[in-house]
Amino acid sequence: MQNTNFFSNTLLEWNETENNRQMPWKGESDPYRIWISEIILQQTRVQQGMEYYNRFIAAFPDIKTLSGASENEVYKLWEGLGYYSRCKNLLATAKFINEELNGRFPDKYEDILTLKGIGTYTASAIASFAFNQPFAVLDGNVFRVLSRFFGKEIPINTTEGKKFYSRLAQSLLNKKAPGKYNQALMDFGAIICKPAAPLCLLCPLQKKCVALLKNKVTALPVNTKKISQKERFFNYLVVEYDHQIYVRKRTGKDIWQNLYEFTLIETKVGLDETKLTVNKEIKKILNQADFTIKYISPKISQKLTHQLITGRFIHIELKKPLSIHEYFQVNHQQIKTLPFPKLIASYLADKNVSLN
Ligand code: ADE
Repeated sequence: MQNTNFFSNTLLEWNETENNRQMPWKGESDPYRIWISEIILQQTRVQQGMEYYNRFIAAFPDIKTLSGASENEVYKLWEGLGYYSRCKNLLATAKFINEELNGRFPDKYEDILTLKGIGTYTASAIASFAFNQPFAVLDGNVFRVLSRFFGKEIPINTTEGKKFYSRLAQSLLNKKAPGKYNQALMDFGAIICKPAAPLCLLCPLQKKCVALLKNKVTALPVNTKKISQKERFFNYLVVEYDHQIYVRKRTGKDIWQNLYEFTLIETKVGLDETKLTVNKEIKKILNQADFTIKYISPKISQKLTHQLITGRFIHIELKKPLSIHEYFQVNHQQIKTLPFPKLIASYLADKNVSLN
């Protein structure tokens, strides 16, 4: 048997006999639900994604409900997942489908691909899972399994590599059961051909796996891209006046767009070195000298893909109201309904914000 046939047949056989992975979106044929699950899973591990998916679908079971939701409501459900532009696109696309397409999710790959926030991966997933159309998915799992089984060293982060793997994936796809085949391949990558400590001894593909035969399993796939990380220091003033806290919405073209935050002093150097500057800055930003510092939190960090954010929270009580127009006051109850970045949400959860 040719290696390509061996690969596809063995994979489907493994899927029938061994694969008992269960996920709430598996076997789903509603394109809306598949879309939501795939957007959540783009940058998120399946285990974490499941909880978010279940809560999201419970709150917004169809396009119509999502298209009528408020931005804050959708972002609040997304809180902690990161990559918030996914959320913005979800809402825009739901509104577009509801208003321009009579609420019907498009059923052709080319039409699905034109939707905001949907690239080739998600379009293939929706077209194959919901409509059984022959489009192979190409995600991290697929790159890894193909690169190892066929022993290919072409880097997966290059245009050439993407083209190569995309053609290979498409040629291997079982055209009679594309949805089932795509899901099987992703599950196989997650269960057997894992990134670290893959289960080669149990693998049904082992006798023809080039990486295993050449002892290259851990070296594949090749990725030549280095992720650079920028460090940023966020001093948050949790400014309280009259038992309420000042917050604002982040609107700039930066991380955490559309989420809320406290009064921010961003500094270029580490927080320990900046104490003096920050004290001066506090007076300047508050535009008043008479205030009480109630609490200074330890430093906490949040790692994003390209940035490391280190934050500190300084709880300050004012005697006069703050007069910076973008900040507005919220009480103990209102603060719970606003979506915050994980860094701030964990501070709030820790402190259980008492405003007395
Ligand atoms: N990652 C992205 N989509 C997935 C799916 N449908 N099943 C498992 N893992 C995935």
